[in-house]
Amino acid sequence: MYKSEKLAQTIRQMIENGVWKAYEKLPSLREQAQLSGYSLMTVLNAYQELEAQGLVYAKDKSGYFVAERAQPFTRKQPVQIGLNSRIQINSVVFNFLKSTQPAEIVPFGSAFPNAELLYNAKFMQILAQQAKRKSSYNNQNHMPPGNQDLRQLIANRYQLQGIPCHPNDIVITSGALEALNLSLQALTQPGDFILLQQTIFYGAWQAAERLGLQVITIPEHPQFGFDLESFEQALKQYPIKVCWLMLNAHNPIGFTVNPEIKQKIAELLYKYQVYLIEDDVYQELNYGSAKPLPVKYFDQHQKVLHCASFSKTLGMGARVGWVYAGPFSDAIQHLQLMSTLTVSPLLQNALVEFISHHHYEKHLRHLRQHLEKYKKKFYQELKARLGSICEIYYYSSGYFLWIELPEQLDGQVLYEQLIQQNIAIAPALLFRPDHASQHYIRLNCSYEWTARVENSINLLAEIILQNRKSVD
Ligand SMILES: Cc1ncc(COP(=O)(O)O)c(C=O)c1O
Repeated sequence: MYKSEKLAQTIRQMIENGVWKAYEKLPSLREQAQLSGYSLMTVLNAYQELEAQGLVYAKDKSGYFVAERAQPFTRKQPVQIGLNSRIQINSVVFNFLKSTQPAEIVPFGSAFPNAELLYNAKFMQILAQQAKRKSSYNNQNHMPPGNQDLRQLIANRYQLQGIPCHPNDIVITSGALEALNLSLQALTQPGDFILLQQTIFYGAWQAAERLGLQVITIPEHPQFGFDLESFEQALKQYPIKVCWLMLNAHNPIGFTVNPEIKQKIAELLYKYQVYLIEDDVYQELNYGSAKPLPVKYFDQHQKVLHCASFSKTLGMGARVGWVYAGPFSDAIQHLQLMSTLTVSPLLQNALVEFISHHHYEKHLRHLRQHLEKYKKKFYQELKARLGSICEIYYYSSGYFLWIELPEQLDGQVLYEQLIQQNIAIAPALLFRPDHASQHYIRLNCSYEWTARVENSINLLAEIILQNRKSVD
């Protein structure tokens, strides 16, 4: 273990044991170097590692602070492996999305960040310039695997994280959803076993339903988010071909799994000869300066297909994603040719220009700052109204809060009550269709605290409190 990892582990334990509390300032780099006897560089690496795990955050010129996060899942659940052989979720998701579309609905149930934050004037200007060029409509360079320059820029971003990547490893897709779906299709046959986290983005369940797969689930770990023990047990017990996991800024819960666990996952994939489709769509939305490492970083044996996109950073207008497919590039391109064929050349060209002139980094900084500010405000306001009866899980990335309602309340019932009042929330049923513990909801907090937002949160809190009284 590197010195910086050792130091990060010590500080992590102190945070987990409550020695360092939320919002407390950690010793400065110089102080920590004196305290620990390590070099400034080692201390900096350790702090950056903790930052990538969402345990601490950096404030401009003020140093590093402990992130506010509730202790998730304080009740340790026993190892529980689930088997779902007949998934039927698509209609539930369809009806949910339809119900949340009208303009008058307050969009706390949305999976996308506030469109105002995603709008970037420079990107739109580049897009308009591209639209005037005849060459932008030439499909030739944009057929699968996609625009060569865009794939090169994406490969550069992997390399910056220390992940070897060649443009030929990348296939450009229509959002991450296509990347994830084509990857799963390329790796499975109907009836195969796949492994999902018990609580996961509904797109994973829909993909399993579409491809006729059997789903093994493992529960979240009470402390670390990912339960290695259940994972290995499931790999031993079932002939699992592929896992589909989210380990950074998990949707809907929000946790980011630490690098030691990710390394172990990579080792287990190799040991049991299983592939991983890694869903990392929120990788750029970590509030700290460092992007958390994916399992792909530890993947020595080409077992991981890493999927991400620009949809959560530039919006629906830029529905462009990709998969780091490596040896599966060819198989995925074949499938793509039979479905979407190609991703808009106009968008791919505009992204090349936007990223290569460093506008993307600037946009990401602005986006992260606002998401952090808005989510903190939501957290504080919700804590004040519901803190005595609900657990609210806060993590330093993304734009979701995961709320545990009193056990007798059902997220789906609450959703139905609130939609009557033109307020959307995302009930747990969308993320764990096996109906286990449904007293959770996901709230999109990427909005400024306006009177409309405040009134809606007041109503939401009121209805939860009333429901609570009526079951007591
Ligand atoms: C966890 C997760 N993965 C994948 C996707 C799909 O991403 P995209 O919009 O780029 O297709 C979403 C979208 O909501 C998501 O929340």
